[in-house]
Amino acid sequence: MKFVMTQAVCPEGMKLLDGVSQVYVADNQDPNNYLDQMQDADALIVRIAKCDGHAIEHSPNLKVIGRTGVGYDTVDVKKATELGIPVVITPGANNRSVAEHAVAMMFALSKNLVQAQNEMCAGNWEIRGAGKAFELEGKTVGVIGMGAIGRETAKICQGCGMKVAGYDPFMSREKIEALGAKYYADYRELLKTADIITIHVPLTEETRNMIAKEQLASMKKTALIITVAGAASSMSPTWSKL
Ligand SMILES: NC(=O)c1ccc[n+]([C@@H]2O[C@H](COP(=O)([O-])OP(=O)(O)OC[C@H]3O[C@@H](n4cnc5c(N)ncnc54)[C@H](O)[C@@H]3O)[C@@H](O)[C@H]2O)c1
Repeated sequence: MKFVMTQAVCPEGMKLLDGVSQVYVADNQDPNNYLDQMQDADALIVRIAKCDGHAIEHSPNLKVIGRTGVGYDTVDVKKATELGIPVVITPGANNRSVAEHAVAMMFALSKNLVQAQNEMCAGNWEIRGAGKAFELEGKTVGVIGMGAIGRETAKICQGCGMKVAGYDPFMSREKIEALGAKYYADYRELLKTADIITIHVPLTEETRNMIAKEQLASMKKTALIITVAGAASSMSPTWSKL
């Protein structure tokens, strides 16, 4: 079998491929740039990359596309399915990492870490008096998408003394409440009351643009919004957008 990988994975992962397979590590995000290597590839392993229909169509031997993560919106799943090529993910591989990242962003924002660090490095020690820091304890975090990452994030937040409110149309009230979270049937209601919103949904027709101008405007003026659900994870204090 020949494996093509857009990027190498951790040494333990690479070791699994030792000796049993031919492996080509492209170190390049787009298989269209090495279609010659794709001609006899049996499997494509995609990390931070794009795999469009053109690349899939021009990989005649391809039997499987694996994503080393859980989102697959960078892969043209429709084209792969048309050609009978399964697209597989690695559930559970990075729940904790992504959840910790989301909480790290909450701390960074609530302690004004980025601005404080930048100002201090520029010699402005007065930044410590800016009065922008606040405590997370007692604040309400609204978790949109109570799947593996959302639940892990909720758990860490609860450990920090935060209240959790959850929205997930595919989870029952009982399940959400059993996680110690307040249940919301409509995320627009949750947006109005949460101090921090953290988003952990896949990209679908329903979730695309689910937070737009109108939703941002409905949030508390001091609310924070964090999204680590996409390739470009980001944090943005909403007041800078309003
Ligand atoms: N930034 C990163 O490094 C990184 C890493 C891994 C995953 N992700 C993203 O995080 C997403 C979630 O990952 P996960 O492992 O928790 O997946 P998961 O499938 O366990 O959870 C996703 C949850 O979203 C819910 N959901 C679906 N549609 C919804 C909607 N319209 N409104 C609210 N909830 C909805 C589902 O019911 C499910 O519970 C992935 O799809 C991926 O895009 C990002």
